[in-house]
Amino acid sequence: MKIAPSILSADFGALAEDIARVESGGADQLHVDVMDGRFVPNLTIGPVVVEAIRKRTRLPLDVHLMIVEPERYVGDFVHAGADAVTVHVEATPHLQRALAHIRELGARAGAALNPATHPDALAYVLDDLDLVLVMTVNPGFGGQKLIAEVLPKIRHVRTMLGRREVDVSVDGGVKIEHARTLAEHGASVLVAGSAIFGHPDPAGVIKQMRAAAQLP
Ligand code: DX5
Ligand code: ZN
Repeated sequence: MKIAPSILSADFGALAEDIARVESGGADQLHVDVMDGRFVPNLTIGPVVVEAIRKRTRLPLDVHLMIVEPERYVGDFVHAGADAVTVHVEATPHLQRALAHIRELGARAGAALNPATHPDALAYVLDDLDLVLVMTVNPGFGGQKLIAEVLPKIRHVRTMLGRREVDVSVDGGVKIEHARTLAEHGASVLVAGSAIFGHPDPAGVIKQMRAAAQLP
């Protein structure tokens, strides 16, 4: 199981230090939440900050675009240093083109599903995916409660993907107590913001989360 701290819950005034803490604490990648105030009711950061983060860490940057017309910006984020770029299936009418474009630029291509979105939206792009991000909250804010009704979708997506080597990432309200269940459902990446950065010992949470996700 890979653990991806979401910097949305980090201290943006001391971002480099917070990132260094989770990097030395064993994080596998860094999850970067980009919001536009239109697709979601919140605004966060853009490529400038991704570029700044890129200079401060060796961790792969997993950029989650919660923006309308994401195809307009994928190039900027890849050039800023994103290793993976995820677009929401609800945000683009041309999902296949967006995914192919991300790969052409040399990054891993991801598709995210809001809690109410059926995974059939991915049925015709399975070979264009490097990761699927299953949202377990309605995107927009950190610190929300995981919506348990969405859990069967993780297994559904895993089954659809068959033997393809595609990550299934779970994002929203993920805490140590969910790690085991999420692993059992087929998750390969756990994104966690408040559970990690809201704790006095982020490294301890990362280790406990990974241990809890270890299936016998
Ligand atoms: C929600 C974001 C998440 C968020 C997770 O819109 O996509 O990545 O940062 O934060 P927690 O783990 O606090 O729910
Ligand atoms: Zn996210």
